[in-house]
Amino acid sequence: KDQGLKDVFEDSFYIGVALNSRQVAPEATQEFELISTHFNSLSPENGLKWALVHPQPETYNFEFGDEYVAMGEKLGAFTIGHCLIWHQQVPNWVFENESGEMLDKDALISRMEAHIETVMGRYKGKIKGWDVVNEAFNEDGSFRESKWYKIAGKDFIKAAFRKANEVDPEAELYYNDYNVWRASKRKGILDFVKEMKAEGIRITAIGMQGHYTVNGPSIEEIEQGILDIYEAGFKVAITELDVDVLPRPRNSEGADLNINYANSPEFNPYKDGITPEGKAQLANRYGEIFKLFEKHKDKINRVTFWGLYDGRSWLNNFPVRGRTNYPLPIDRDMKLKEDVFNSIKMA
Ligand code: G3I
Repeated sequence: KDQGLKDVFEDSFYIGVALNSRQVAPEATQEFELISTHFNSLSPENGLKWALVHPQPETYNFEFGDEYVAMGEKLGAFTIGHCLIWHQQVPNWVFENESGEMLDKDALISRMEAHIETVMGRYKGKIKGWDVVNEAFNEDGSFRESKWYKIAGKDFIKAAFRKANEVDPEAELYYNDYNVWRASKRKGILDFVKEMKAEGIRITAIGMQGHYTVNGPSIEEIEQGILDIYEAGFKVAITELDVDVLPRPRNSEGADLNINYANSPEFNPYKDGITPEGKAQLANRYGEIFKLFEKHKDKINRVTFWGLYDGRSWLNNFPVRGRTNYPLPIDRDMKLKEDVFNSIKMA
């Protein structure tokens, strides 16, 4: 059997992949071949998020989760749960009573705990690590004003971790966020997780999502993130790695522009195929990123790619829909990119 990505880093960290519902289906044999060759950890891209797994108060939908966990067992993979508590992909009813009024703090926390108990409990011992809380901080390090935070304050995070530990004391428990390379955001996160730790709340690792571009953040910025997390007493998980090769339409304040650029050549430059320059840029970027991860392999427990292959990446639809992106090591024909693979191997 050909050497896969996971074999290159066998002595360093797990190599993971986020999967959608088509990819865990038993008939997806081509996908299964790719997954089993290259990855020894799995993440669910969407299927275990609240809106999908628990769409109505009394309805849980475990179809995806059961197939996903079965695939993990078949592969002997380190299987991740994503994510118990997030401000996106969560139905509005979660925050309201039957008359449509906002819940109070105690009622919301009880509802959250029941959700954690049911979802995490079903896969106890099978899902080995959970993103317990996802994206609860702003870029300046303050708490995100989500409905969770508005109703329950920062205690919702502590309660979620306490409950997760109670439901599966063997599972790894993660706080997960993007732009953790940004010093201001990271400080807010680390101050808070240290506070939790001091109160005896168990938390295993900080997830640095790793949604990068070919231009940034810099390797030094990512490295400082890894060092600071480790210094604070936590392992680092790279949970959602990909490298956007397309320009990001932004306004003058740097915010993503929500305009439909799908048909604009300027913002979809590789519609008919990526140029040799673009390919080289991607391979180089992956090389320098993995060189950094390899340097810090004692601090990193896992590196997970956010998607199986280019054609199924969320980055074809972000920040605008209908673009043609090339962010992963596996291309649109489900073939490993040899140049990216070689560059990663050199790490
Ligand atoms: O399932 C519906 C389909 O019925 C509908 O026709 C279609 C048209 O809009 O939408 C489909 O749902 C989409 C869903 O993905 C499944 O493909 C949603 O619109 C879309 O918003 C959703 O995007 C997901 C996104 O999280 C939600 O915010 C991406 O696939 C997923 O990759 C992304 O993952 C997140 C992580 O969970 C957390 N970190 C950031 C990361 C990237 O945003």
